[in-house]
Amino acid sequence: MPDVDWDALTTEAVEAARHAYVPYSRFPVGVAGLVDDGRVVSGCNVENAAYGVTLCAECGMVSELVRSGGGRLVAVSCVNALGEPLMPCGRCRQLLWEHGGADCELLTPQGVQSMEQVLPQAFGLADLQHVADAPKGSVG
Ligand code: THU
Repeated sequence: MPDVDWDALTTEAVEAARHAYVPYSRFPVGVAGLVDDGRVVSGCNVENAAYGVTLCAECGMVSELVRSGGGRLVAVSCVNALGEPLMPCGRCRQLLWEHGGADCELLTPQGVQSMEQVLPQAFGLADLQHVADAPKGSVG
C-alpha cells in the first residue's frame, strides 16, 4: 500500500474545488483519493438547474477512478471552500465504500477515520452475495 501524504492529498482536493460548478449553492467541494497503485484521482461538485441532478465531488472522483483504470481507494480527503475537511454526504459514503471498503481512510473534521467508522454496518456487495449464495429465499 502506498504511504498516505495527507497534505499532498488535501492540496489536490483544494485544487479540484477551484473547478467546482456551483452557481446555485455557491458551495464548492473538492475531493482527492489515493489509489492502491499510487495514482491520485480527484473531483469537484457539478450542479444543475434541476437541483436534484447535482453531482457531488465524490461522484466525479469515482468516475475518474474507474475511467483511469479502477483500483481501490486507500485514502480520501474532501474539503470545503476554506480548505477544511468536509464529511462526505451519506450517498457519497456509499460510493466510497464500494471503491475503498472498510479500511479506506478518510480525513474528517475529527481526524483520520476509517470507512468502517463513518459508515458502520454498510450495505455492500457481501449482502448481495449472501442472498445469491443461499439455497432458497423465503420471498422467492
Ligand atoms: N456536496 C458534495 O459535493 N459532496 C458532499 O459530500 C456533500 C455535498 C455538494 C453538493 C452541492 O453542490 C453542494 O455541496 C451543497 O450541498
